[in-house]
Amino acid sequence: MVDLSVEICGLKFRNPILPAAGPTVRDGDALMKVAEGGAGGLVAKTVSVSPAHVPRPSMVKVKDSILNAELWSDLPLEQWLRYEYAKAKKTRLPLIASVGYKADEIRVVAPKVKAAGVDALELSTRHLGKDPALVIEATKAAKEVVDIPVFVKLGPDAFDVTQLAREVEGAGADGIVAINTLGPGLVIDIENTMPMLGSVSGYGWLSGPAIKPLAVRCVADICRAVKIPVIGTGGISNGRDVVEFIMAGASAVQLSTAAIVRGYKIYGLMADEIAKFMRVKGYNSIADFKGIALRHLPEQPFRTTAKPPEVIASRCTGCGLCEQYCVYGAVKVVRKIAKIDPVRCYGCGMCVSVCPVRAVRF
Ligand SMILES: Cc1cc2nc3c(=O)[nH]c(=O)nc-3n(C[C@H](O)[C@H](O)[C@H](O)COP(=O)(O)O)c2cc1C
Repeated sequence: MVDLSVEICGLKFRNPILPAAGPTVRDGDALMKVAEGGAGGLVAKTVSVSPAHVPRPSMVKVKDSILNAELWSDLPLEQWLRYEYAKAKKTRLPLIASVGYKADEIRVVAPKVKAAGVDALELSTRHLGKDPALVIEATKAAKEVVDIPVFVKLGPDAFDVTQLAREVEGAGADGIVAINTLGPGLVIDIENTMPMLGSVSGYGWLSGPAIKPLAVRCVADICRAVKIPVIGTGGISNGRDVVEFIMAGASAVQLSTAAIVRGYKIYGLMADEIAKFMRVKGYNSIADFKGIALRHLPEQPFRTTAKPPEVIASRCTGCGLCEQYCVYGAVKVVRKIAKIDPVRCYGCGMCVSVCPVRAVRF
């Protein structure tokens, strides 16, 4: 029996998959659906002193990713304090409230949210701009006014996310969440020549699979720089992605885009996928593989010679994707099995990453 539970800052999560602040956690009813969908704990939509005026349209799908112009919650803080958190608490899962933004706002919002019974705070720094001092001030303010764990969520656009993480830890943060969306970006509707989003200039912020490698890199860098727990977020769409973040050092993960695209059932489906992976690999607990990829990062040898991958013939279905993606013309499917020409192979690795059944490997 594998154990998916994790404990972070005294909070006990039944599995490491949490929702990220966004439309899938926009109120108490939505949070209840997240719990029914199998998430390990809850994170609510960001609240601030006053409700947001969200531009419409607020979301546009870009392949499997999303560009969004959603701000923080458009519900009044009072409504969250009276009804929405209470509904979410009925699930009995740990509840993290996301709050924003500047130190003086945090001083007002954080104690009220704590009094509503949430278990921890997450500081959203999305609208603080690029000045790290504002993030530090907000962190200190939260730590002054509440005695529950404070997680600080960092964006990928910080000048030096590792240094900022160190400073946030120094300012008293109990944990870090990384990363937020990346932007601004622009999508134009070529039928009417207008931006797809209703925000100023049509700008929006990118989430989903497109930002995942950036998020994993940030998480790995931050995990090597701080001692406090790190929750990874950005582009997670299946159980293997969750494992990747945990191997990069994350204690748990959050996701938003995948739940928007595939619905609330995704948390439980991912938990099943992780459990299956753990059984195959012989891991009994999340701690067994947390951070195990980090040891390879500093010592990864720099290699410029090609090492052709091998094909596991018994797994190969002859689908031909590896041949299609090989720009060097080194792969050919012969009698339904991929063959790699070691002379032509550049060792680029593309065939390994496109094989749907993992029959091609280094
Ligand atoms: C539509 C939308 C709304 C979001 N709203 C918030 C928010 O209110 N506060 C916040 O800190 N992050 C917000 N985010 C960022 C997500 O919490 C998350 O960090 C980001 O989307 C990366 O994860 P993902 O790729 O799994 O979506 C939002 C993301 C999306 C897509």
